[in-house]
Amino acid sequence: MDDAGADGRHAGEPSGGGETIDPPEAFRESAAVADADVYDSFAADWPDAWRAAADLLEWDRYPETVLDDGDPPFYEWFPDGRLNASVNCLDRHLAERRNQLAIRWFGKRGERRSYTYADLHREVNAAAAGLRELGVGEDDVVTLYLPMIPELSIVMLACARIGAPHNVVFAGLSAEALATRMNSADSGYLITCDGYYRREDAFNQKSRADNARLRADADLAATVVVDRLGDEFEIPLGENEHDYGTLIGEHEGETVEPVARDATDLLFVMYTSGTTGRPKGVEHATGGYLSHVTWTTRNVLDVRPDDTYWCAADIGWITGHSYGVYGPLSVGTTTVLYEGSPDYPDRDRVWDLIERNAVSVFYTSPTAIRSFMKWGVEYPEAHDLSSIRLLGTVGESITPKAWRWYREHVGGGDVPVVDTWWQTETGAITLATLPGVTPMKPGRVGPPLPGIDARVVDRDGDPVEPGETGYLTLASPWPGMLRGLREGDERYRREYWVESEDGWRYRTGDGATVDEDGYVTILGRVDDVINVRAHRFNTAELESAIVAVDGVTEAAVVGDDDGGVVAYVTTRGDVDPDAALREAITAEVAGIVAEVARPDRIVFTPELPKTRSGKIMRRLLEDIARGEEFGDVSALRNPEVVGEIESTVRDEE
Ligand code: WT7
Repeated sequence: MDDAGADGRHAGEPSGGGETIDPPEAFRESAAVADADVYDSFAADWPDAWRAAADLLEWDRYPETVLDDGDPPFYEWFPDGRLNASVNCLDRHLAERRNQLAIRWFGKRGERRSYTYADLHREVNAAAAGLRELGVGEDDVVTLYLPMIPELSIVMLACARIGAPHNVVFAGLSAEALATRMNSADSGYLITCDGYYRREDAFNQKSRADNARLRADADLAATVVVDRLGDEFEIPLGENEHDYGTLIGEHEGETVEPVARDATDLLFVMYTSGTTGRPKGVEHATGGYLSHVTWTTRNVLDVRPDDTYWCAADIGWITGHSYGVYGPLSVGTTTVLYEGSPDYPDRDRVWDLIERNAVSVFYTSPTAIRSFMKWGVEYPEAHDLSSIRLLGTVGESITPKAWRWYREHVGGGDVPVVDTWWQTETGAITLATLPGVTPMKPGRVGPPLPGIDARVVDRDGDPVEPGETGYLTLASPWPGMLRGLREGDERYRREYWVESEDGWRYRTGDGATVDEDGYVTILGRVDDVINVRAHRFNTAELESAIVAVDGVTEAAVVGDDDGGVVAYVTTRGDVDPDAALREAITAEVAGIVAEVARPDRIVFTPELPKTRSGKIMRRLLEDIARGEEFGDVSALRNPEVVGEIESTVRDEE
């Protein structure tokens, strides 16, 4: 057992040996993977070893080919296979567990709803029939703009059933963001709701969706509105608008023949921030994605049918797609779906839900763990959390201190904690320890999974020495990888791929180090992407919202140590940088981008530090925001402004 004392080592420090914790014996005994040979056998038999993932699925036509790499970087996994994702998440479980719970939903006002696999199958079929009635056909993109309610999972699976790719837009994103995503995806169908609760208040989601429609390029074929708020909130329906309950009610009891999709056919699009202000539409193919997600749910998160599993991420982001919907339902487990926030009605809400549902596998982000730590151990300590047998974390680096806190106070000190690294584009977990096999190192993600060829390289693509900083790349394709971008092949190639002497390399956009044991430590993004509270945004996306405010001349945003965002802002000479301006900036970011992206701090400054060529020194601003040492600033065009900014930031603290 490890000593639980914090050593203060930071995730960003150069790696050496690092403290190593073996997989707990009790866990090993029943772990999905207990034989360390899996690494060698994947290496010796790549890519064919990935057939093990395809074998976890039910296929309409079993794939003869594992990987077609004839036209890199356009890789095709299991290209001659055919399958349906909703069959794999529902139909195939009916014989054995039709009465087992698939989803236990908890609403914001204490409402509860449970669905067995048979219930979910029935609802998904009715929804699929309803979508068909509206004219949704194979390959029509359906946009979903819903909070964490069961209908979100149901409609996703209904889309999958009829071969209509879904395009889920996080419910907290703005009308503008919704419109951009619908236009770019060429989506003629929108499923939204009347509204949802934000703490005490009801928020009108429908009117935000209406605003998006006004900005849409083309007329919508149909909008479906889920009644989340009941009588409290009456929404009149307009032309081509349908009430979800009525539509589904008309098809209750019908079965819809699942459409057999080519493994390479599109399952969904998910927009994410890239290196420009415009989001990228990441496309995931059906067969490779579902295979990889299922394999990792089973073997990394170690989820089995008899678990009660909870992935706390919102389905509006990739984590919720892969490990809140597809992964858990594909392995046939019972999954908790929670609409509310972790501190409402009280700060023990998460622990209360874990205790009441006997959650055995829990997956969340370091941002959430930091909040739990801040709130105090008395909240988890007031609950019986002994049902937990594995903890997972994702979305950003976790410090050794937070890692230990999580293991000690949530995991009772003796469960495996898996730090999982992956991205919207990778579709599924690509770096992590295997909990029954691989020793853990607090603060380091771990080695690549079997069958994943991750390398930390320098600018020329050569591997860096252990402890040296480099770029994290994936040197071979993997099943869950994106099949392309909505914006086209050229953008896909340019955004992600470099051709080198020994083949094509995928650039992750992350800086990293690797230690002597092959454990990777993530240092953060090296491009213009920032992770805000485990959500990904582009700096230009946030900055252009800020400069849209009257009186603002320039803005630069950086991440801080708490997963938050700091905005440095300059104003016109005649404008007072006062509280009203702060409020206007905050409101604009919430309105144009998203509520979660609001700056935590706004620092007004007469100038932004710039290089002689006029580039904003974001790295320097980030160091200041994080209270870190920074290097020589004499090469700046305006070095004098740095001291000024630093003292403003310190005064505010
Ligand atoms: C970026 C991807 C798919 C996960 C949810 C976010 C960062 C992700 C880790 C981790 C350190 C991590 C990276 C990555 N990230 N997991 N375990 N340790 N950083 O998905 O929005 O596509 O963001 O999140 O910077 O590139 P995303």
